[in-house]
Amino acid sequence: MKVLYLSAEVEPFAKVGGLADVAGSLPRELVNQGLDVRVAMPAYHMVLDQWESDIVPLSTGFDVNLNRNKSVPATVYSLEHRATSHWLVDIGTAFSRVTCSEEVYSPQRDDYLAFVQATIAACRQVGWIPDVVHANDWHMAFAPVFVREKTDWCHSACVYSIHNMAYQGQFGRDTIEEAGLPESTFSWDKLETWGGVNFLKSGCAYADHVNTVSPTYAQEIQSEDYGCGLWGLMRHLADEGRLHGILNGIDTESHDPQLDPRISAHFGPASMEGKSECKAALCRELGLEKGRPLLGVVSRLSEQKGFDLILPCVARIIEAGASLVVLAIGDPTMAVQFKELAAQNPNRIAFCERYDADLAQRVYAGIDIFLMPSKFEPCGLGQMFALRYGSVPVVRKTGGLADSVFDGVNGFVFDEATPDALWTAIDRALAVHGGPEWTKLVHAGMTADFSWSQSAKKYVELYDQALSGRRILSKQGCTV
Ligand code: GLC
Repeated sequence: MKVLYLSAEVEPFAKVGGLADVAGSLPRELVNQGLDVRVAMPAYHMVLDQWESDIVPLSTGFDVNLNRNKSVPATVYSLEHRATSHWLVDIGTAFSRVTCSEEVYSPQRDDYLAFVQATIAACRQVGWIPDVVHANDWHMAFAPVFVREKTDWCHSACVYSIHNMAYQGQFGRDTIEEAGLPESTFSWDKLETWGGVNFLKSGCAYADHVNTVSPTYAQEIQSEDYGCGLWGLMRHLADEGRLHGILNGIDTESHDPQLDPRISAHFGPASMEGKSECKAALCRELGLEKGRPLLGVVSRLSEQKGFDLILPCVARIIEAGASLVVLAIGDPTMAVQFKELAAQNPNRIAFCERYDADLAQRVYAGIDIFLMPSKFEPCGLGQMFALRYGSVPVVRKTGGLADSVFDGVNGFVFDEATPDALWTAIDRALAVHGGPEWTKLVHAGMTADFSWSQSAKKYVELYDQALSGRRILSKQGCTV
């Protein structure tokens, strides 16, 4: 089965958030399971630059017609990495000005429309027509639209993955013209939403199947509170059997405390001494007092991630005798608050306001308790990394957190999105920390299977289901 997997960010080439982790690890497991996968991403300047010696041109200088008045020359490069084939699709424009991961989302609507069309053209150009087109998030949402409206690939199925309902890509009606599509596509069951064109909705309307990244989130987005204005559509997809929730996995090879070269000492479920060394080294590095329970957060400073719940708990954490490390960037007001708290308690609170993937590993390995009190969380990967590194998560019962952390089994779970509810859960964790109950929690977390092998099988089943639906449709005479 040939799968074209489209993502704006892919680890290790370009990483902003969890999507990069998924796009950098799920395709590899699909390859392991025997699928023929191409991961397509824009040819960002820094990727062409940093990976120059691994890059091979596949097809150069072909023209891609974008609409009646516009075409762009495109080049596809191939880049093999850890047994997975990546296509870097170069159409110049804004992508070629992206010089670091922080700039990955500086391109605009028209750049994404052009990228997706160029990727489809690249398939034709090299004679590799996918059985399944799998598009991720709003940036790639027009892949199903173009496959159905602009190709004759009636046997190719489309799957669309939502990693966060909060980012939809809502634009004006002029999107239709820019995309070179007929006016007839501007209807409620196709591209039209609230008088404009909504990318996420368009992807859902045209895909054979839609999935999101945990079973609980797939339920939640059918409600007004979590559906970000599209809960009616989500319910409709669910009624039609087209909405699925598949829990993300993690790359268990590069996140293995027994081998990880980024941490100070190695450890595993049967030999935990290395974890104490990691904790001591982290405290030294951050100037924190030793011998106290250490809580940690690796996240994005935002309300979504529950920092408005954490901030009011900080004084209580200190009073209870624990320390805290926060590694995050984002909301400047929240950053100021954490800076002040850290300045007042320099040997108890460390605030690291930067993106630092290596420090993140040292935090996962060195802390005792991992906080992730998200308002909503489509899946969340931090809690899985923490579990694997023997740190016990305290999470809010939502989305993928509810599907991976279980109260009293491998962590602590609370329901209400209030500082008091978070504090009660932290207090419960501190009460058992260090005792025999704790050892059991840590062991359960470290030995659970968070690899992709199970979830990738579910994707393969979903692809199969989408393909058989297509076969029925094409027998009924559908042209695309
Ligand atoms: C988004 C979501 C996060 C999820 C990730 C990968 O970043 O916010 O919950 O884990 O995508 O699917």
